[in-house]
Amino acid sequence: MTLSDFRVTASTEQLLAELRGIAESNNSEQMSLPPATYSSEELFELECEKIFRPGWIMVGRVDQVPNPGDFLAVDLLDERLVITRDHRDGEVHVLSRVCTHRWMSVCEGSGNSRTLECPYHAWKFEMDGALRSAPQMKDSPSYDKAALGLTPARHEIWQGFVFVNLDGRAEPLAPHLVGLDEEIKEYRLSEWKTVWTRDYGEMPWDWKVMQDNGDCYHHIGLHRETLFDTFPNSLIWTQPTEGHYVYTGCGTAQDKLVPDAEGRPATPTTLPLAPGLTQFQRENLLLIYVHPNYFIAPSPDNAIVARVFPVGPGKVRFITDLLVPPNAFDDPEFDKKVDQIASGWDVVNVEDVRACTSVQHNSRSQWAKRSPLSTEELCVAQFAAWYSRQMTE
Ligand code: FES
Ligand SMILES: [Fe+2]
Repeated sequence: MTLSDFRVTASTEQLLAELRGIAESNNSEQMSLPPATYSSEELFELECEKIFRPGWIMVGRVDQVPNPGDFLAVDLLDERLVITRDHRDGEVHVLSRVCTHRWMSVCEGSGNSRTLECPYHAWKFEMDGALRSAPQMKDSPSYDKAALGLTPARHEIWQGFVFVNLDGRAEPLAPHLVGLDEEIKEYRLSEWKTVWTRDYGEMPWDWKVMQDNGDCYHHIGLHRETLFDTFPNSLIWTQPTEGHYVYTGCGTAQDKLVPDAEGRPATPTTLPLAPGLTQFQRENLLLIYVHPNYFIAPSPDNAIVARVFPVGPGKVRFITDLLVPPNAFDDPEFDKKVDQIASGWDVVNVEDVRACTSVQHNSRSQWAKRSPLSTEELCVAQFAAWYSRQMTE
């Protein structure tokens, strides 16, 4: 679909012209996006066509379906999806969970099952989507069992994360993330396990507010009581990139570094550090945003993940997961410590919720304008440039 397929109002034309300018300059002026981009219905429709349907969207982790028969339902725009683990070969599949009979969702939530059985008329599907049985259908003139399996959605797995491409035509995901792979290979994230999830439900802000919120600049304000002392603004860095991701982070204040079990300095951790990390990784909190909806912040002993599903203009479903490296399970106080880490992140998340809610509301103010970004917010400027390119190319 091209831009000309959309009939847009003059105010949207104006916004797109502004975005074209940002794309052309690669946001060299280092300013925020125009505030109207965060709540425009027309722009949201265009985002679905330009970003969400043709792009790669992170929907979950393979370790969230560890055993044959496991399933995890995920909602993405109008699509109802399910990640499954096959009984026969242990393969991970991503399927539409819209029943091929009369479109009820065949499952909700997560669980383990021999088949996916639709609650409406009891059609049963295998974990790879094939239709196994459909009561009283064999004499129906249009019934074709082989053609009535659940539709697979194209997916790729990167570092244990499952990404979906809704229109089935995206360039492969992996080459876009090669540089990032190299930066974070020592964590071996594909081996990490999800140990805690919190679904915040539908939240009143746009997915772009969430991407913008990846800056560490706000440690000095919003996270003054939680992150600032350990991760002060003076140690923020951002790697220049024009790719589909932002790679930024923050070092640990000298006086907060503690020796680990081998006596080498590291950021304070609750669980044992993942083995094999570089000194830089041992001292830094990394923040990685793979556009448009996935955020991961690896520390040496845990990583907080955000899955941000767009629901509409100015609305997202916000889910966070906590991952830990495999050696963390050896800690005798594992459960207690995971609770401790999760509650710590929950406090930080609640601080972010407060800011994102306020920012979204106020982006509609008649006095809100594009604004200058600090050198500690290069990730926000990079995201604005990426977004502008996607929307106008
Ligand atoms: S809608 Fe699923 S069996 Fe009828
Ligand atoms: Fe934050």
